[in-house]
Amino acid sequence: MGRWLRRIPVFAGFAVSAVAALSVGRMPVGAQQDLVARGRDLYMVGCVSCHGTDGKGTVAPNGERRGTDLTNAGEAGAYYMLSTGRMPLNNPDDQPVHREPAYGDDDIDALVAYVASLGKGPRLPRVETSNGDLQEGGEIFRANCQACHSASGSGGALSYGRAAPPLSKATSEQVGAAIRSGPGQMPVFGPEEITDEQLNGLAAYVEYLRRPEDPGGLPLGRIGPVPEGFVAWGVGVPLLLAAVWWIGSRSPARARRSR
Ligand code: HEC
Ligand code: HEC
Repeated sequence: MGRWLRRIPVFAGFAVSAVAALSVGRMPVGAQQDLVARGRDLYMVGCVSCHGTDGKGTVAPNGERRGTDLTNAGEAGAYYMLSTGRMPLNNPDDQPVHREPAYGDDDIDALVAYVASLGKGPRLPRVETSNGDLQEGGEIFRANCQACHSASGSGGALSYGRAAPPLSKATSEQVGAAIRSGPGQMPVFGPEEITDEQLNGLAAYVEYLRRPEDPGGLPLGRIGPVPEGFVAWGVGVPLLLAAVWWIGSRSPARARRSR
């Protein structure tokens, strides 16, 4: 019995490393190395002019920085910039904006793997909106995101002439990538602030903001004030009208007329 008890840590160790291998590796080591190598080739063509061979950024002859240090951008930072078409920039002074990506999905995967291999940046969280708690997501949004992106997610102006973009185009993966990497003036939200589980609900809420016009099928109480408003209109207003009618029917004028 004692011998078995002493083995528990060993089994636990196995379980932990198996889970870690599944979640970190996701693919055999060889394939991962190929992906990184392919990403490096793409990087040397499309990114090196601004970010440098070591990924630490370059400085133009006039002394201005051309690209930032991306060695700790991680999977999340690279996926954010590439999947939203923000990178590659044409001009280092342009504000990166969401547009059609310059690379296909496979090339993005390769570039993301390469950038991630340069340092210890945040990983890209897997987001499952169907597992999310929409109500909690709404609370997190109002507490952490609304100040910049507005209550409806339509974005807003920030200082220095920059803007927080509208959230109407971002996929749930991009919501996860933005939160973990904190692009531009957006703060980083690590797993201590917003857990992967809470992220599911938050991404579901960002998705929900895009179609608030059809909340009919959603159960009451899951998404806060919106369905309650509908209840007010659907139940409260008819009750009020009934009360008005009842009072009216007892008024002297009405009583005289009906005599
Ligand atoms: C014309 C110059 C230029 C090119 C080319 C370029 N970048 Fe950038 N990159 C920048 C600048 C400038 C920033 C900082 C953007 C900002 O936030 O205002 C940046 C930021 C980034 C970041 C975010 C770094 C961080 O701190 O999180 C990543 C990741 C990135 N670039 C990846 C790439 C990749 C991958 C390519 C090639 C496909 C590329 N870039 C091509 C100029 C460039
Ligand atoms: C201090 C202001 C600020 C706060 C707070 C903030 N953001 Fe952002 N967010 C930004 C800015 C600025 C950008 C654009 C950064 C860039 O790429 O240069 C951005 C970009 C994004 C994008 C990318 C949109 C697209 O179409 O590509 C998403 C998604 C996003 N934010 C979600 C969130 C969520 C969710 C929260 C709350 C957890 C949040 N942000 C909190 C300022 C903010």
